[in-house]
Amino acid sequence: MSKEKLIIFDTTLRDGEQSPGAAMTADEKLRIAKALERMKVDVIEAGFPISSEGDFLAVQSIANVVKDSRICGLARTNKEDIERAGEALKNANASRIHTFIATSPLHMREKLQMEPEQVVEQAIKAVKLARQYTDDVEFSPEDAGRSELDFLCRIIEVAIEAGATTINIPDTVGYNLPEQYGKTIRDLIERVPNSGKAIFSTHCHNDLGLAVANSLAGVMNGARQVECSINGLGERAGNAAIEEVVMAIRTRQDLFPCDVDVDATQIITCSKLVSSITGFAIQPNKAIVGVNAFAHESGIHQDGVLKSRETYEIMRAQDVGLSSNKLVLGKLSGRSAFKNRLDEMGIELDSKEELNDAFRRFKELADKKSVIFDEDIQSLLLDVGFDEQMVEKVKLVTLKTCSETGETPHAAIMLNVGGVEQSSEASGGGAVDATFKAIEKIINSGSSLLLYSVNNVTEGTDSLGEVGVRLEKAGRVVNGHGSDTDIVMASAKAYIKALNKLEMPSERIHPQASSAI
Ligand code: KIV
Ligand code: ZN
Repeated sequence: MSKEKLIIFDTTLRDGEQSPGAAMTADEKLRIAKALERMKVDVIEAGFPISSEGDFLAVQSIANVVKDSRICGLARTNKEDIERAGEALKNANASRIHTFIATSPLHMREKLQMEPEQVVEQAIKAVKLARQYTDDVEFSPEDAGRSELDFLCRIIEVAIEAGATTINIPDTVGYNLPEQYGKTIRDLIERVPNSGKAIFSTHCHNDLGLAVANSLAGVMNGARQVECSINGLGERAGNAAIEEVVMAIRTRQDLFPCDVDVDATQIITCSKLVSSITGFAIQPNKAIVGVNAFAHESGIHQDGVLKSRETYEIMRAQDVGLSSNKLVLGKLSGRSAFKNRLDEMGIELDSKEELNDAFRRFKELADKKSVIFDEDIQSLLLDVGFDEQMVEKVKLVTLKTCSETGETPHAAIMLNVGGVEQSSEASGGGAVDATFKAIEKIINSGSSLLLYSVNNVTEGTDSLGEVGVRLEKAGRVVNGHGSDTDIVMASAKAYIKALNKLEMPSERIHPQASSAI
């Protein structure tokens, strides 16, 4: 018997980006969107176009380039938001406007300061206006998890009547328990007279660690869309993790009445990409994508797995794209072999210049590291490309560091700042500390370092080191990424990238912090 389709709606680029410190540039968002398209995600919520010029451009460029997934833009229920979303999505192959307004008594009274009647009117107007831009409109009663069922039924009925094709039920503050959330979905589908004209969707936050459980309870009770994000990125404790939702549905086909079209073998690539770009590390024991998720450490387990895989494994590592570190290319590999490998990995670069840049970096790496794996290529590609929004005011010219037993580590650096070369030296607790201090002697950014992380991309001491740096200045938080076989060099690159991001314009509105009008 053929199964119903479960729509996978990814909100890494919208709700995920609302996570403090996860802000991404338009170029980074486009990279993630392309990876999500390769993963065959049905709908990509690309951003909140009214929030800033940068977010508008990000949604627009994703709508221009990504053609296999539906591209969605978020809008509050006011005219300006909806018009801006419509404009950003103009060139999409398939578009969606997602409009929302809060419906819980607390939110209506305290945040919106509106009467329930006004909220209903506002929802109707918004859905009708959104339908003038696209015939695919999603409506969310924000904080549905704490809203009154009768009021939800009422607003959903009129939203569908006005043209909403998807009704999303957000547990905005992650307050619901699975049974309760599942029952809400079932009750709504049963009680709203025209519910058959829309698809019901889940949107669960993870404040109590229940986002995935709640989403799956929603699916068991009739929801046919799940909103989720890579690595569970999102406001506060995050959203439901896409990798967990997809693998639960796939692994328990004996129980679910529906299936997903997602290519799960792209999960690890997407997960690493999002983690590198945002600087949000993945905990080792994280389900599906943590480094321990498929490692069978204990002797008893290993013995069991060797005798029969099913004794302790419910999924296969290769099903989520964990390859056993394939040797791909080496020092003598030419441009076409490199390009072939990119094609096999499903990676498309935007221009000849980007391919040249990637190939140059690959050759540089091959000089330092004889064995190059897929993971190395993925990591070096993060630094490839020309970010139109990014003002590369600061560039690294040279760096020399010295660490010696009994001596204070020292760094001498030369930067090109706005076309002028400047040098400085500094000592520090270690080579990285000395390097950051030497950079700051020139730039004097006034920022503080919130996070510094180092990860090895593959095994072995000649592995590429991937460094994440998070800087904060006047309440603004940015991430920088750098990779190199020398982790001090990778650290300098990451620090400089973060400094350059601080130079970019940043004004943006938070979708849920302000009123609807
Ligand atoms: O959590 C939430 O309520 C949201 C809405 C904007 C759908 O993210
Ligand atoms: Zn949310």
